[in-house]
Amino acid sequence: MRVLGIETSCDETAASVVALEGDAAPKILSNIVLSQIEEHAAFGGVVPEIAARAHVEALDGIVEAALADAGVALADLDAIAATAGPGLVGGLIVGLMTAKAMAAAAGKPLIAVNHLEGHALTARLTDGLEFPYLLLLVSGGHTQILAVRGVGDYQRWATTIDDALGEAFDKTAKMLGLPYPGGPNVEKAALSGNASRFAFPRPMKGSAQPDFSFSGLKTAVRQAATAIEPLSDQDVADICASFQAAVADALADRVSRALERFRETFPGRGNPALVVAGGVAANRTVKATLERLCTDAGFSFVAPPLKLCTDNAAMIAWAGIERLREGVAQENGFDFVPRSRWPLDSVSAPMVGSGRRGAKA
Ligand code: KG4
Ligand code: ZN
Repeated sequence: MRVLGIETSCDETAASVVALEGDAAPKILSNIVLSQIEEHAAFGGVVPEIAARAHVEALDGIVEAALADAGVALADLDAIAATAGPGLVGGLIVGLMTAKAMAAAAGKPLIAVNHLEGHALTARLTDGLEFPYLLLLVSGGHTQILAVRGVGDYQRWATTIDDALGEAFDKTAKMLGLPYPGGPNVEKAALSGNASRFAFPRPMKGSAQPDFSFSGLKTAVRQAATAIEPLSDQDVADICASFQAAVADALADRVSRALERFRETFPGRGNPALVVAGGVAANRTVKATLERLCTDAGFSFVAPPLKLCTDNAAMIAWAGIERLREGVAQENGFDFVPRSRWPLDSVSAPMVGSGRRGAKA
């Protein structure tokens, strides 16, 4: 099975070919990601209209390069999979329409993929992980804990009631005058900072409600920064280190509850695993905290390679393969209309205000 994946839901234009043959491990034949960071940097965040135009300009070339790298022609593909939501609708239209046109011209099936499903299934591409497992998705637009029970079978156990975690990193960076994207720059500044100088709140810590919240932490950072202005480099480093410590502590509290719930819900699952995905998974403090938590709780900690953790098209091609193989592809992807909001778990009630402000909300 060979599937071309296309991803255009935010600020990366990406295409990839993934192959699955018999019982062998799946192979990523090509994986091309063009980041638009430079186009958006001057604005301190992703500008939807600029993103959509940049996708239009780049996508043809990226798809051609992905096919050439993989050494396959359009005719060799079994299907084309494209992100159809959630995300910025302009970009989604570009990717899905391109995929529809190619699939129609080549007479191939078209699979409309939920971007979050791409993240959720990546650990099966990279590590062959068996269902069920627990997923922590921490990106610029999402902060969720999901029980991944099967292809198309997800239960959302927690989400953010305000900002996404990546968004909190980006806003903190902006407040402190650090360049976009904020996450990596906050992490870098924190290296030379004192994490105990500021006692920032640990949002939701100890709460029986399983969800996340980061907007109060962001406000506390703003107040601390305003109180000691003008900020020296050391002040910035100390704020970043203290912010990161608060984030790690809050995450640990929320995730440990989910680990307990996973054990109760799936008592028969030997070797339970927590998978982490999304750009914030690049953060070494966050990663080390989660790893320790898993070791203590008897869970395996699975962190796919960073380039498959952040937005990419290999995860979309792989979700396409999983759907084809399970026979759960949409009857007709050609009729699918892009959805800027598309929860993976349609049963759990939407959280009021959750992630509504993020670029990918
Ligand atoms: O998954 P991703 O590449 O795109 C989205 O789907 O949003 O995640 C991007 C987010 C941004 O908010 C970025 O600041 C954050 O991930 N991020 C980090 C780090 N690297 C990226 N946050 C904290 N520490 C990092 N090292
Ligand atoms: Zn993503």
